[in-house]
Amino acid sequence: MTTSHEARAESCPPTRGMAPGGLPLLGHALPLRRRPLEFLAALPAQGDLVEVRLGPRRMYLACHPDLVQQVLRDSRTFDKGGPMFDKVRLLTGNGLATSCWAEHRRQRRLVQPAFHQERMAGYAAVMDHEITSMLDSWQEGRVLDVHAAMQALTARVIVRTLFSTRIEDWAVDEIQRCLPVITRGFFTRMVAPLGLMEKLPTRRNREFDRALERMRNVIDQTVSSHPTGTDHGDLLSSLLGAEDEETGERLAGHEIHDQVMTLLMGAIETTSNTLAWTYHLLGENPETEARLHREIDSVLPGRRPGFDDLPHLGYTQRVVTEALRLYPPTWLLTRSTTCEAELAGLRLAPGTTVALSFYALGHNPALFSDPERFDPDRWLPERAKTVPRGAWNSFGGGSRKCIGDRFATIETTLVLAAVASGWRLKPHPGPSIRPEPKASLSTGPLPMIPERRRQGSSAPPGPLSRE
Ligand code: HEM
Repeated sequence: MTTSHEARAESCPPTRGMAPGGLPLLGHALPLRRRPLEFLAALPAQGDLVEVRLGPRRMYLACHPDLVQQVLRDSRTFDKGGPMFDKVRLLTGNGLATSCWAEHRRQRRLVQPAFHQERMAGYAAVMDHEITSMLDSWQEGRVLDVHAAMQALTARVIVRTLFSTRIEDWAVDEIQRCLPVITRGFFTRMVAPLGLMEKLPTRRNREFDRALERMRNVIDQTVSSHPTGTDHGDLLSSLLGAEDEETGERLAGHEIHDQVMTLLMGAIETTSNTLAWTYHLLGENPETEARLHREIDSVLPGRRPGFDDLPHLGYTQRVVTEALRLYPPTWLLTRSTTCEAELAGLRLAPGTTVALSFYALGHNPALFSDPERFDPDRWLPERAKTVPRGAWNSFGGGSRKCIGDRFATIETTLVLAAVASGWRLKPHPGPSIRPEPKASLSTGPLPMIPERRRQGSSAPPGPLSRE
C-alpha cells in the first residue's frame, strides 16, 4: 500500500522552502529558542528541505523522510561536527556519540560487542533488581514525581550494568548526585552561542564544574579498580576486553573513560524521559492503560515480568513506540557536511549545518494520520506498513543508530510490565505538562499518584488485543 505522501514523493521532485517570520540580523533565532517544538513542527509545510537562519548562519532542516534517510545513511558526508559538537567533546570526550566518521567506525567495532544479544539477559536481570527496589519504595496515595523517579531508576540501571556489582554504593550515589547537575549544565553549554556565560564564576557554573570533576574521578577510580581479564557480564568488562578484529587494537584508558561517560550521558535522560512521557500519556488515555493492563494480566498472571516474557508483550512495546513518536527524547539532531553535497537538489558547501527533527516528523499529518492522537495500534504490523519509510527514527539510523536501542526497549518494556503487574500511576490534578526541549525532550516534574492494582482490576470487558 502506498501512502499519499509516498505517491507524491514518487511523482514530484523534492521541494525547498524558507522558514517564515525571519527578522533582520537575528533570522529565526528567537522562535527557535522560545518555542522550538512549535516552530520545527510547522516547517514541513514550507517544503521538503527548509532553510532556517540563525543570525548570519544558515541551517537546513530535512523534513521529507527520504532526505532524513539520505542524511542518516551517508554519515561520511553528513558527519558529526561543527561548533556545538566541539563543545560537547569538551564535556564527554571523544566517545561514540561525538567522534567523527573515520574514528567512529573503529570505536563502534570495539563497543558493539557490549550490546550483543547474548549479553541482554544479564542486563535484564540487573534491570529487574533495580525496578523491584524502586517499587518497594512506593507508597500508595503518596504523590510521586515520576520524572525524578524514572531518572533515578535509569541512572542506577546503567551504572549497575556498566560496572555490575563491582561498583560500591558510595560510587553509585556519587554518580547519581552528579549526573542531573551535569545534564542540566550540558544543554546550556551546548546552545550558548559564545561560550562566555559558562566561564563566569556563578553558583551554577561552580556546581557544574565540581560535578564534572567528581564524576571524572569516580569513573577513573571505578575503571582502574575493575579487574581485567575476566568477563563479569557487565558493559565495562566487554569494553576492557574488546579487541578490533581487523587490527587487534584495544581501547586505550582515556578512550574507556570517554565511552563510559558517553554511555552514562546517552542512556539516562533518553530512557527516563521516554518512561515519563509514557506514564503521562497513559494517565491521559485510560482505555489504552486498561488494554496494557489486560495484556500484562494475561501474559503474567500473578507474577513479575522477566526477559523471556518480552516477545509476548507486543502491546506494551507498541505503547512505548507510540510515546517515542509523540515525544522523541532526541527531538533535534544536527550534522555538518564534510564536502560539497547535494540535498533536495541544493548544493551545500562543506561545513553546512543540516538538521533533523524527529519531533517534526512524528507530528507531520502527511506522514501520520491524526498525528496528535496517542494510538499504539498504529504500530500493528499491517498498519505500520503504511507509515512511510524513514518517518519514525526515534533511535536514529545508519551507522550512528543508537547502540543502546535494544537495551532501552528491554528496560522500558520491563518497567511498564513490572509497574502494571502491581501498580498504576494516576494523574495528579495540577498545571498541565508541557514539553521542555532541553538536551532531551523532558516532561519536567511529573507528579502522579501510585495506586495499588490487583490483577484484573482495571480491565473493562473487551478483546485482549487486535493483533
Ligand atoms: C529510549 C531511549 C533512547 C533513545 C530514544 C535514544 C536515541 C538515540 C539517538 C536518536 C541516537 C542517534 C544520535 C545521532 O544520530 O546523532 C542515539 C545514539 C546513541 N545512543 Fe541512544 N537512545 C536511547 C537509549 C540509549 C541507551 C540506553 C544507551 C546506552 C546504554 C544509549 C547510547 C547511545 C550511544 C552511545 C549513541 C551513539 C551511537 C553512535 O554514534 O555510534 N542510548 N541514541
